[in-house]
Amino acid sequence: MKGNALSQLGRRTAEPPITWLMREALVRPGLISLAAGFTDNPSLPVEITRDIMAEMLRSGKTGQPPLQYGTTAGDETLRALTARRLAQLDGQSPKAKAYSPSRMMITHGSQQFLYILTEILFDEGDIVLVEDPSYFVYLGIMQSHGIRGRGIRMEADGINLAHLEATLESLKKSGELPRLKALYLVSYHCNPTGTTTAAAKKAAALKLLRRYEKFAGHPIYLLEDAAYRELRFAGEDTPGALTMDRTGDRVIYTSTYSKPYATGVRVGFGFLPAPLLTAALRVKGNHDFGTTNFLQQLISRALSTGAYETHVQSLRKRYAKKAAAMVRACREHLPEGVEWTEPNGGLYVWARIPARVKTDLKSKLFAAALKQKMIYVPGNLCYADDPTRRKPNREMRLSFGSGSIPNIKEGIARLGKALKKVL
Ligand SMILES: Cc1ncc(COP(=O)(O)O)c(C=O)c1O
Repeated sequence: MKGNALSQLGRRTAEPPITWLMREALVRPGLISLAAGFTDNPSLPVEITRDIMAEMLRSGKTGQPPLQYGTTAGDETLRALTARRLAQLDGQSPKAKAYSPSRMMITHGSQQFLYILTEILFDEGDIVLVEDPSYFVYLGIMQSHGIRGRGIRMEADGINLAHLEATLESLKKSGELPRLKALYLVSYHCNPTGTTTAAAKKAAALKLLRRYEKFAGHPIYLLEDAAYRELRFAGEDTPGALTMDRTGDRVIYTSTYSKPYATGVRVGFGFLPAPLLTAALRVKGNHDFGTTNFLQQLISRALSTGAYETHVQSLRKRYAKKAAAMVRACREHLPEGVEWTEPNGGLYVWARIPARVKTDLKSKLFAAALKQKMIYVPGNLCYADDPTRRKPNREMRLSFGSGSIPNIKEGIARLGKALKKVL
């Protein structure tokens, strides 16, 4: 038969490029992958989790509730603890309205939150403003839903506000503002660049979005993705955008327990303005009518016993060492002309190569790196399909998350050899 029965979405959805990168890491023995966004294996909280599970399953009375279905919005205790922790991080009273557990839902990772939010907010052809570059899996969700992206240029402390304003103005002029619904910021130790958005920039961005709403005819939301917020190992924490949301109905905030606790557990959460929450809960009801109760109660107990906090503290020290090892290796092995960031949190170093060398999957450099048995994430994969500019093709994301320190050093040394060959 000639035709296939796939829906438009089924046909449109491209294969995520990361699938190929992950497969390469598995099928090539000896390959060092600085591409994967995995977290550090040896520090995964095996003992903490074992103790909590033993406690949870101690008796029928304690064991039955987590082994039963829960509610669509998520476990009440976990929501209360999460809301309180976020208020604390933001330096706000846990009684403040913005941090009411009734404004949030627990999801299967923050990835599910992003997906559900996309489903309730955007139609095909709608526009999202994204950091240039941004989190490539979210760009994949956009591609799959036929959502258009416009990249906002980046500076060391977040988006370039003048470029944000110019983009809003150009959308106004072209009559496309009614298609614009949100600005998506990975605002802490961003995936892929490691950038943290300054608080003043979030406040200014919110103001700008407000100013253009009257031409859009509906709210334009700031979607703050704080997935790496807890993995800060230097500098001060920055207040989240919820603290700047004057009317309490323009900021959507999402984060996750994946990175700071365990990526295999995949419990995430999001705070939303009321009309969005109602719609999101209905869609979540259709997706799975609730995140795995057992895992929610695991996280809830880790939080309430203090084990979570202790774990996060030690994790930060570990990533600080790994990041420092990667930066030192870059200094030692990467040839002149290559620039890289020195992260103060998260899992990534972002490197920029001299303009004459490309970094994409088909480039000479990528082939040379593969020959040296190392891979990185090509930077061009992290740029939205924005028709107003060419995708830069001279950058790469290097992850210090999953490799051991000797592995990281060797990976960068191999990259150095590949670069020297191509340069
Ligand atoms: C920026 C960002 N947001 C969200 C996620 C999703 O994480 P999870 O679904 O495990 O919470 C990731 C995962 O890598 C990420 O990098």
